[in-house]
Amino acid sequence: MSSFEYQNGLLHCEQFPLDALAKAFGTPTFVYAAGSIGAAYQAITDAFTGIDTLVCYAVKANANLSVLKCLKELGAGFDIVSGGELARALSVGADPNKIVFSGVGKQDDEIKAALAAGIHCFNVESEAELYHIATIAEAEGQLAPISLRVNPDVDPKTHPYISTGLSTSKFGIPMADALGLYQRAKTLKGLAIKGLDCHIGSQITSIEPYLDAIDKMFALIDSLAAEGIAITHLDIGGGMGVRYQDEPDFPLRELSAALEPRLKARQLTLILEPGRYLVANAGVLLTKVLYTKVNGEKQFAIVDAAMNDLLRPALYGAAQGIQPVKKPQKAATTPIDIVGPICETGDFLAKDCAVDLAATDLVAIASAGAYGMSMSSNYNSRGRAAEVFVQGDQARVVRERESIDAQLAPELAGLNAAFTHSAPPS
Ligand code: LLP
Repeated sequence: MSSFEYQNGLLHCEQFPLDALAKAFGTPTFVYAAGSIGAAYQAITDAFTGIDTLVCYAVKANANLSVLKCLKELGAGFDIVSGGELARALSVGADPNKIVFSGVGKQDDEIKAALAAGIHCFNVESEAELYHIATIAEAEGQLAPISLRVNPDVDPKTHPYISTGLSTSKFGIPMADALGLYQRAKTLKGLAIKGLDCHIGSQITSIEPYLDAIDKMFALIDSLAAEGIAITHLDIGGGMGVRYQDEPDFPLRELSAALEPRLKARQLTLILEPGRYLVANAGVLLTKVLYTKVNGEKQFAIVDAAMNDLLRPALYGAAQGIQPVKKPQKAATTPIDIVGPICETGDFLAKDCAVDLAATDLVAIASAGAYGMSMSSNYNSRGRAAEVFVQGDQARVVRERESIDAQLAPELAGLNAAFTHSAPPS
């Protein structure tokens, strides 16, 4: 069951009516339901109960500290891709031994911070990065735990911008190079080989791409074993899809059934890196209609949220559900585009929606818990939206709406300052 349902004709988040949330906190506001995060986490742990599994939530999906704390308390570890995400995870008391560090461009200070924290594993993305991590670890007198992220060259059949496991993408190490690189890694001081990793893409709705990738991963694991290179975990990344419109439920149990005998036979722990699956449908973007207008054939509702708050429709053409806060009594007559105030035609949140909207109406853009706030910006000098956490009939702000003062502050000191740096002589 969704945490966002109509009760007495009004859309609620758990037991809190969204019109009351708008009144208390203003709009646009991201509203998150704690219960949904818990239910999604439970669905994963239930499906993988027969396997020794570490769920590392992909922080990039929604990095709000209260979301991270909620997941930590459920037992999750974290998949990070920057020093900033490491700091966020540590600030909510994450167990460093449950943190994996992914990403194609890890920088020196980030590598050092992760080593100092004692993370579980670096997911290494290239030969150059492998040597670099080894050099830094050795200089720091540390052993960097590593897995190689291989690129299994499978098509995850999702949006091209979020397909990562094809040989043409920038991610991972070609399968054909992996064995040789593990052999090199074994000889390098400063490294401790721990596992094997892949992540093939995001919003994947069928099991086949995973099965293709897994077959290739186990073949590699067996070749490694034959060469005397033992690993203790297999990380299959994230990417489990969610329902935005009419997508099927992701077949978690089929995935665990395909993995269980093979992992057990090799005594491997499984690491999962779900982001979207845990948080997408736990959140909505609550927004208010400012104006409606008709341009020729087209009807528009201009709302106070925009592409700077929720970029997915503009960037991927993503279609997310639209739920008017007051339950519609009748079907809409004319389809309407829901657009923001930003000066770009690409600034739309939904196209051709079958809802009737009038000025001051409140609307929830569904499935906005993942890759909403985390991809937001100040474009058009718009302050970032507030974020609110709901549990039952209780709500609290978990990120204040960004004020104009907060936006201007980092620039004010430079406004009238003297120049401080001269170019070096040529
Ligand atoms: N692990 C790695 C190494 C990743 O790169 C990602 C996502 C994940 C895990 C989590 O994937 P998830 O379970 O959330 O699908 N902005 C896009 C999604 C980009 C995903 C990037 N990497 C969107 O809004 O659809």
